[in-house]
Amino acid sequence: MTVEHPSAPAEHPSESPPGSPSQAPGRTAAVIPAAGRGVRLGPGAPKALRTLNGTPMLVHAVRAMAASRYVSLVVVVAPSDGETEVKGMLDEYEHALPERTEFLVVPGGDTRQESVKRGLDALPDDITAVLVHDAARPLVPVDTVDAVVEAVRAGAPAVVPALPLADTVKQVEPQPGGVPEPVVATPERALLRAVQTPQGFERATLVRAHETVPATGEGATDCAGMVERLGQPVVVVPGHEEAFKVTRPLDLVLAEAVLARRRANDGF
Ligand code: C5P
Repeated sequence: MTVEHPSAPAEHPSESPPGSPSQAPGRTAAVIPAAGRGVRLGPGAPKALRTLNGTPMLVHAVRAMAASRYVSLVVVVAPSDGETEVKGMLDEYEHALPERTEFLVVPGGDTRQESVKRGLDALPDDITAVLVHDAARPLVPVDTVDAVVEAVRAGAPAVVPALPLADTVKQVEPQPGGVPEPVVATPERALLRAVQTPQGFERATLVRAHETVPATGEGATDCAGMVERLGQPVVVVPGHEEAFKVTRPLDLVLAEAVLARRRANDGF
């Protein structure tokens, strides 16, 4: 899959960016589910609205998607009671976002799966490729975003960025109330990958997955898994260590350290 990076911003948003060997004509959008409460991070505002070095995590995530010249629309799925706040936030940070990118804000649902579905429902007809990116991964580098889009535009119905694991993983049989959990399997580590976002999809494939895969329990935490259940191929491209998910308090410290290093290196 050799694909050139577009050399200039798309001047006509209804077309694919120059230099893109797009097989499917049309635009690429990013849907950012940002409606989670983020309880594992401790008490406070919804996770996406918390700040990293003074800027809301969601703004970092939006900027990371908009940094890709392939992405001409970003749909933010806001907490259902936070739509106005998110719109205000995007207005406030408009100066930090590229002019060529359109933004939409829609209210989220009770699960990530439902929130993504609401984002998909808001897409205009000319969108043919969709990224789904967790607001909780604010620091994904643009090269990773581009690599995902390029793989979709080259014909893959579903693409996930992923990294090999540092830890060995055990499958256990969960037990109630702190009882030690018996190990039932040790998958071969070399065959495992830790999956990140943005995940990229041919739009029709992702829409079909959301229409046909039922939401069970907490719903799907991974759109690519829904596509797998359709029997469609999902491929992996290299992820990036800076695309980690901000989940626990220590992740906030790490994220701020990454931002400090970027600022020292390139003034961002
Ligand atoms: O909870 P978790 O970290 O898996 O959430 C992943 C992403 O899904 C987060 O960006 C979160 O804001 C989003 N989410 C959502 N709607 C929900 C639950 C989670 O948009 N109801």
